[in-house]
Amino acid sequence: MVLDSTFLDTCVWKPDIFKGKVVFVTGGAGTICRVQTEAMVLLGANAAIVGRNKEKTDSVAREIAALRLGAVVVSCANTDVRDVNSIAKAVELTVEKLGRIDYVIAGAAGNFLADFNHLSSNAFSSVVNIDLLGSYNTVKATFNELRKNKGAVLFVSATLHYYGVPFQIHVGAAKAGVDALSNALAVELGPLGIRSNCIAPGPIAGTEGLERLVKNKDECMRKVPLQRMGSTRDIAEATVYLFSPAADYVTGTVHVVDGGSWHIGLLTGGNMYPVELTKRNSEILTKL
Ligand code: COA
Repeated sequence: MVLDSTFLDTCVWKPDIFKGKVVFVTGGAGTICRVQTEAMVLLGANAAIVGRNKEKTDSVAREIAALRLGAVVVSCANTDVRDVNSIAKAVELTVEKLGRIDYVIAGAAGNFLADFNHLSSNAFSSVVNIDLLGSYNTVKATFNELRKNKGAVLFVSATLHYYGVPFQIHVGAAKAGVDALSNALAVELGPLGIRSNCIAPGPIAGTEGLERLVKNKDECMRKVPLQRMGSTRDIAEATVYLFSPAADYVTGTVHVVDGGSWHIGLLTGGNMYPVELTKRNSEILTKL
């Protein structure tokens, strides 16, 4: 789902609540972070989206900017969050074009399904470097702006690490680190007026993650306590709340937006095991 101007007619937020503010979003051309950015822009913010792929990042930036007359969305393409200098350049470009950064969404992530037996050390470190080191670098590079503007950070986490989700060792470990990073930042940066929170999406329709993990969507949906898959808009709504003045006293939290799914261990259900990987996992091959 992508948003359009009807969002303003159907949402509970005041239009223009983010007028004059700037949101900096890593992974902003991806499925979830794109819609988070759209909501912020529709509600008055300008934005910078950060991505590795130039064509995709440029075109998504143009599409988001078209949502609101006068909106400016800067494309920080060819940026790799694993490299702090690369992200510092994206921050420089954003401040040059938009004047400031108030809100940061650290959403760039890498994921694939792999069993432990076939997950190389390099593969593990690739994902940890994108998800965890990349999140750290994002805050590091935006820190001066956050301090100046008493800003807020939102990390896109997950619920995978609340229990053992098979074939997601790398992602679960990285996201556990992201939660820890956010909590510690909330405490350290609180006195500077900077807030830090995580959002933990559950089964969100249309995402690569759900496609990979869930084979039988109808069965999965029936198990979700709220009896439906989540939408990217659900994540965008929670994002707006966490950046809005309504959440001025909210920091160091993990906001789970999953319809109650993790309480029943949805992602550990037998029907979620990709059969081909389960078979492969039983092989005695070990890739180092
Ligand atoms: N199963 C097992 N190992 C895999 C894999 C898979 N499906 N996909 C990649 N890897 C391994 C590679 O083999 C390599 O390990 P090796 O050197 O031991 O062979 C390692 O991961 C790094 O791969 P590489 O392609 O060099 O990394 P990259 O930095 O270009 O890409 C990834 C990072 C691997 C996370 C890639 O999947 C990616 O860029 N993803 C971004 C998009 C995405 O995942 N979006 C979903 C967000 S939820």
